[in-house]
Amino acid sequence: KTREDIRNIAIIAHVDHGKTTLVNELLKQSDTLPEHMHLEDRALDSNAIERERGITILSKNTAVQYGKTKINILDTPGHADFGGEVERIMKMVDGVLLVVDAYEGTMPQTRFVLKKALEQHLTPIVVINKIDRPGARPEEVVDEVLELFIELGADDEQLEFPVVYTSAVNGTSSLDSDPATQEHTMNYLFDTIVKTIPAPLDNSDEPLQFQVAMLDYNDYVGRIGIGRIFRGSIHLGDNVSVLKLDGTHKNFRVTKIFGFFGLKRVEVDSAKAGDLIAVSGMEDIFVGETVTPVDHPDALPILRIDEPTLQMTFLANDSPFAGQEGTEVTARKLEDRLKSQLHTDVSLRVEDTDLPSAWIVSGRGELHLSILVEEMRREGFELQLSRPEVIYKDIDGVTCEPFESVQIDTPNEYVGSVIDSMSQRKGEMKNMETTDNGQTRLTFLAPARGLIGYSTEFMSQTGGYGIMNHTFAKYLPVIKNWTPGRRTGALVSINQGTATTYSLQSVEDRGTLFVDAGVQVYEGMIVGESSREQDIGVNVTKGKNLTNTRAAGKDHAAAIRTPKSLSLEESIEFLNEDEYCEVTPKSIRLRKKIL
Ligand code: GTP
Repeated sequence: KTREDIRNIAIIAHVDHGKTTLVNELLKQSDTLPEHMHLEDRALDSNAIERERGITILSKNTAVQYGKTKINILDTPGHADFGGEVERIMKMVDGVLLVVDAYEGTMPQTRFVLKKALEQHLTPIVVINKIDRPGARPEEVVDEVLELFIELGADDEQLEFPVVYTSAVNGTSSLDSDPATQEHTMNYLFDTIVKTIPAPLDNSDEPLQFQVAMLDYNDYVGRIGIGRIFRGSIHLGDNVSVLKLDGTHKNFRVTKIFGFFGLKRVEVDSAKAGDLIAVSGMEDIFVGETVTPVDHPDALPILRIDEPTLQMTFLANDSPFAGQEGTEVTARKLEDRLKSQLHTDVSLRVEDTDLPSAWIVSGRGELHLSILVEEMRREGFELQLSRPEVIYKDIDGVTCEPFESVQIDTPNEYVGSVIDSMSQRKGEMKNMETTDNGQTRLTFLAPARGLIGYSTEFMSQTGGYGIMNHTFAKYLPVIKNWTPGRRTGALVSINQGTATTYSLQSVEDRGTLFVDAGVQVYEGMIVGESSREQDIGVNVTKGKNLTNTRAAGKDHAAAIRTPKSLSLEESIEFLNEDEYCEVTPKSIRLRKKIL
């Protein structure tokens, strides 16, 4: 049995591709009750910071009634600092709308969210918007989307995605790419949603399972948990148990349930499997917790919450004009403001310090923290901030630091300088791929410490064309004797098959060697010079074993003969992609041509 009256979808779009306009149009053309529409507060409207940064920070929901079907539309934050939130949203829905500008085509920023959606095996619908634009190239853009899907590992069913062509500004849609076929209706999109997105399972006669995926807060009702009912039903007055993440539980009587209608949250008496709802009155209810009947405490798997990896000290500004009392007031306001942020931001931590006017604020990354700072500054707070620092952790007696998985898309011409910077920042290159359109995608594993401050450098380095995304990968033992920002040596990159174009960015006696064997790229250090002109002899340290090149045992070392025809596969095939190899050529001599 399924809930034919419900569809739950998430919407993914690059900024300015028309998401807000589209959702507004869906609302306008839907059967949503007018009192719930309030179009003046534009659906999914983004705040000023989101617009300037070109990303969505906050997720928002809109519910649209189409005939007998209610379509819940969840917005998705578009930056990797919010990866955990994206994952949680994807758990609440059964399908996604990917909105793509018919002129601009697919944009790298949407990849990360789309990948999460495809991994969850959600059903996609592709909306080619702005079909009215002069120069629109809808068919090519559909091909781009198909390629992207393949690249991101879409399954066979996902590759069969339906396409709807729209002009959100004109309120028109069609199933045909020819703009002349557009009709003044959004029904083509509505019908596609109803037809292709799976309806939620209706197991509402079974015991309740409601899982909180997001938090909200308001002064009247306190903390609000938002999520999906996966099983059973909930009614006002029910006695329920909130299963906490630490294995304990707390019982409550249900006093407030909200459903979503248009852009509003409206109190309802009950809700059932498939519904997205919000509940309040359950005190410190938290993301990932499951609400069940008291006699059926059956928890759903917990949801991922991003760990903070970066911290900064926030200090209330002791303005000389503020006076003693002024400072105190400022400090208290600052504390209240920071703590109120905790109500909804689950990846944030705020700790007291020895100073009465300073707090340590920990977050997901530079973007996460800087958005908070910017928001507060706009609200009128005057702050002093420390430099961001990574959060170290003791794991089994070893001090560890956070590493991020970094994905960079850049026009080919900037690859050299990006690799150079990343290697100075101790980024280990994992992959390098060049696409037909002159773009290269680089993937690194890099210590978060090394990434601090890189985004600004990166933007200028790539002339503003580069795109960088990073997500927390894991904690690894601290890199000893290293302070980011200090330059240590030369970098050579050798790309298999393109031996003549390999480049040496700078020459010192130490450096990093990148060897690209097909898809996998391995990194190592160059520490010396060879007496033999045509050899790059490398010693490979795997784990702690240092072995000599010449005695190249298959497990530990590689000798790379260079350059005329550079064929690397044989010599490094033993390296598997997860191994970090420190290649330490005792002796290396680069031919004059390269030098
Ligand atoms: P954010 O709200 O910043 O995330 O952007 P968005 O993706 O929601 O885009 P939004 O709806 O704000 O639209 C961006 C711009 O594109 C606006 O100026 C819209 O008027 C315009 N736009 C939206 N849809 C269409 C369309 O179908 N055709 C044309 N020509 N312009 C459109």
